[in-house]
Amino acid sequence: SEFEDAFHKAAERHERVWVFVAVLMLTLLLAGTMFLVVYAYGVVVRTAGFRRDPAAIEAPEGSIAKTGPNAYTVTIVARLWRWSPSPLRIPKGATVTFRVTSADVLHGFAIQGTTVNVTAVPGITGSVSYTFNRSGTFNIVCNEYCGLEHQGMLGRIVVEG
Ligand code: CUA
Repeated sequence: SEFEDAFHKAAERHERVWVFVAVLMLTLLLAGTMFLVVYAYGVVVRTAGFRRDPAAIEAPEGSIAKTGPNAYTVTIVARLWRWSPSPLRIPKGATVTFRVTSADVLHGFAIQGTTVNVTAVPGITGSVSYTFNRSGTFNIVCNEYCGLEHQGMLGRIVVEG
């Protein structure tokens, strides 16, 4: 009937409008999420200003300096997605001052089973000391989300003796 035709036309018009609205909302949500993931969490490394010339790091990368009878200063450099130096070998009882920095994005330098927890910031060197009184292997983990391989960003400290 004529009435039914008119009804179906109106219903189809409403349907099109609401499908459009739904697709638009989904698109905005997805775009917003992608923006956050890419720019806020560093999945994509940002441009030159955010980077740091590794050569500009004060001490040579991975350098271990003996500063006392059983004391050392180690420069730890973080980058996507590894710690350097690793594995780090030190004698039992050693007091190690870790100078921690990043060559690219934010990372979190944490040694499991210890109180060591320093954010690795590009362009800034943080410092923390720890005395290793028991021998064994300590895992370095990254506890600052830094991109796709964040969970695999592991290092090792081997305390010998
Ligand atoms: Cu490096 Cu997370």
